[in-house]
Amino acid sequence: MSNNHAVIIGAGAAGLMCAISAAESGVDVLVIDHANKAGKKILISGGGRCNFTNMYTEPSNYLSQNPHFCKSALKRYTQWDFIAEVDRVGLPWHEKKLGQLFSDNKSQAILDMLLNRCDELGVTIRLNCTMETVSQQENGFILNTNQGVIECHALVVASGAMSFPTMGATDFGHKLAKKFGLNITETRPGLVPFTLDARDLAPLKNLSGVAIDAMVSCRDMSFRENILFTHKGLSGPAILQISSYWKPGQSVTVCMLPDIDLAQFFKDAQQNQPNKQLNTVLRQHFPERLIEAFCQDFDLSKPLQQYKHKDLTSIAERFQNWQFIPSGTEGYKKAEVTLGGVDTDEVSSKTFEAKSVKGLYFIGEVLDVTGHLGGFNFQWAWASGHCCGKAI
Ligand code: FDA
Repeated sequence: MSNNHAVIIGAGAAGLMCAISAAESGVDVLVIDHANKAGKKILISGGGRCNFTNMYTEPSNYLSQNPHFCKSALKRYTQWDFIAEVDRVGLPWHEKKLGQLFSDNKSQAILDMLLNRCDELGVTIRLNCTMETVSQQENGFILNTNQGVIECHALVVASGAMSFPTMGATDFGHKLAKKFGLNITETRPGLVPFTLDARDLAPLKNLSGVAIDAMVSCRDMSFRENILFTHKGLSGPAILQISSYWKPGQSVTVCMLPDIDLAQFFKDAQQNQPNKQLNTVLRQHFPERLIEAFCQDFDLSKPLQQYKHKDLTSIAERFQNWQFIPSGTEGYKKAEVTLGGVDTDEVSSKTFEAKSVKGLYFIGEVLDVTGHLGGFNFQWAWASGHCCGKAI
């Protein structure tokens, strides 16, 4: 095989996008993946309808040791560029909420869009291909795989990271970066449910499946969305978002129904409807199971006029200033992303080429760039993939 071509390791979101933009520039591209199918994470994403981008994508939606690194690519390939591509092939889409754009059809439609474009451009995708060794030679790289030896002038690592190993995720990219002397920042699961220890979980055991609107805060970060009680702890979009900012031992604060000042609401109700039971007032706002779990030691059956202000404030605080320390997270098995990764100081933000290894590129989740929940991670995959593809 000629070595005047690029090899992309990983037929996921970033790898396929990179293949398309490189092939559009005339590069001969081979994409290899150890999985038996391309784009498995695209298929399971967004509950099966791929939340493919977010209308409000900004650099501030990303976590990285260097928050400036993502700016250039996000500016050069924006959410509108991806939307234009989706429109070009006539795929219907809709905004669900908060700028999150989903395919009207199954996620397969987005994957097919990418695979069809690869096909039109003559990109070769080789599946079930596992890497044995990768070494550098004078004008590029030589890969020993279970399907023979492959040479290339540019090698793009788009192999993602460790989240959701059942979908083929591995630490291959990080290991390869280390082998070439690149630094890896500390990695941990992100966008992941919290677990609680047995003592904290006990009063919540009947709540599994209950969801409620909340503001969730940790350190100086807050997210407003639903939280969901699970049989292991907490999940739901607001919890997943804050999990990316949480470190073991830190406390998390939950304010349920943040639009209402509950203490004031109780006091007003006490004045206006003194004979109404506290229970009835609470049920206007919270599911029965939640009230039972959070007020186990309170008699809620009395008329409002019989409660002291201090008791009403204390009940309000249980819902609006609930603090807990997660015992941990559900780990990479359930994490949507991996935080940390190839240190962005090692890579050009324009081309994604490693500064110290000519011809070696890193894109997508393998890098230390992690988006918030809501289509931001795919937007990073598209943007980094596109910009790298134009550079190889
Ligand atoms: P990605 O993981 O997509 O691709 C890497 C590829 O490399 C895979 O095909 C893998 O098989 C291959 N590979 C790995 N190791 C290899 C090796 N050793 N040799 C050869 N190939 C190898 N984001 C979003 O924006 N909107 C959403 O709706 C969702 N939903 C969602 C749901 C779930 C359940 C998860 C787990 C994740 C999401 N995400 C998401 C996150 C999103 O899926 C993720 O950010 C991107 O897929 C990252 O794209 P990459 O191409 O970098 O990696």
